[in-house]
Amino acid sequence: MRWKAAVLAPLLLWTFQSLAQAAGLEAFERPQTVPFPEDAPYNREIATLGKMLFFDPRLSGGQNISCSSCHNPSFGWEVPVPKPIGAANTPVRRHAPTLLNAAWISPLLWDGRLDSLEEQAIGPITDPAKMNATFDGITKRLSSVEDYRIWFDHLFPGQGIRKETILAALAMYQRTIVGGVASFDRWVEGDETAVSDAAKRGFALFTGKADCASCHTGWMFTNNQMYDIGLPTSDLGGGGLFPPDPELNFRFKTPGLRNIVLRAPFMHDGTLVSLEEVIRHYAAGGSTAIARTSDIEGFSLEEGDTEDLIAFLATLTDTGTNVPTPILPAN
Ligand code: HEC
Ligand code: HEC
Repeated sequence: MRWKAAVLAPLLLWTFQSLAQAAGLEAFERPQTVPFPEDAPYNREIATLGKMLFFDPRLSGGQNISCSSCHNPSFGWEVPVPKPIGAANTPVRRHAPTLLNAAWISPLLWDGRLDSLEEQAIGPITDPAKMNATFDGITKRLSSVEDYRIWFDHLFPGQGIRKETILAALAMYQRTIVGGVASFDRWVEGDETAVSDAAKRGFALFTGKADCASCHTGWMFTNNQMYDIGLPTSDLGGGGLFPPDPELNFRFKTPGLRNIVLRAPFMHDGTLVSLEEVIRHYAAGGSTAIARTSDIEGFSLEEGDTEDLIAFLATLTDTGTNVPTPILPAN
């Protein structure tokens, strides 16, 4: 009866595909490969070294803060406070964004001011408010750790431990932070039972009346553009860069929404504490406390809409990935 299976398989595939198309799901399909830059192709050993550095407080001036202090895998690669506390013992300027799917995040930072992970890490390491270190200082410190010396010499022959190789390893590791398959992805692949009816209604709202998908689109749920979503903030976002571009005032990079239920509080200033608040904000067309016109229009929120939208957003959670803390080389 092998022919039956052979006939059935394409038929099933066809049904799944047309269901997916009917729901507008095909635009949300996961990519098959991670985009590593041509001059930094994937290397498992460099990524492993980069992971150690990411979790190692020896990269901070006081040896008490690591990248993972503010980008914690348990909280969707952020931390559950509006603004994390850094080396100066004071909250930093903005909320920590997620590093999930970092290889695809472009531009980087809330104001979109950078584009390269290699370059980006210089900021937090040397910022007195974040890690308060110098590259001279941490190069010396890491060089006194025999295992680091051996690994850097092996993986970066002729270069060893220096600013460029520390940054290369950190960036390599961050590009391997890829969210696993969520129940939403199984739905996209054709499994109609993977998500609840409430979540399906939520997706219809997300792509329909609530218009979230005009900015939060594609498998990562961002079009990577900058918008003003009407938050009462004094942070100029993209408009605060040099030279100033008033067109970009109050515009911030659209974040992806994978693992979003793990990532409260929300927004560049961490001022919206729950998804209920986020949805209320969008439905109202932004804050009434601002005089300017923002990029969102508002929509009417009927009974059950908020629950359905949240049921959908919860299907973007990858529950299968466990990120064990690395064992750091001893001094
Ligand atoms: C004290 C907290 C803190 C530490 C420590 C920290 N970060 Fe961040 N990180 C932030 C904040 C806050 C932002 C957003 C800053 C902004 O947009 O102006 C950010 C942004 C980023 C981004 C941009 C993500 C995006 O979506 O645009 C990357 C990448 C990043 N950090 C990587 C790192 C790495 C690598 C380290 C360690 C070398 C590190 N961070 C250490 C708080 C921290
Ligand atoms: C006009 C584009 C646009 C639309 C429409 C839009 N968003 Fe956003 N979204 C953004 C931008 C930009 C940010 C970051 C804003 C900031 O921090 O100032 C954001 C942030 C978020 C965040 C917080 C993410 C984080 O990391 O803190 C959530 C959650 C969210 N949006 C959900 C939604 C939902 C749900 C809808 C539909 C009801 C929606 N968005 C509609 C552009 C948009």
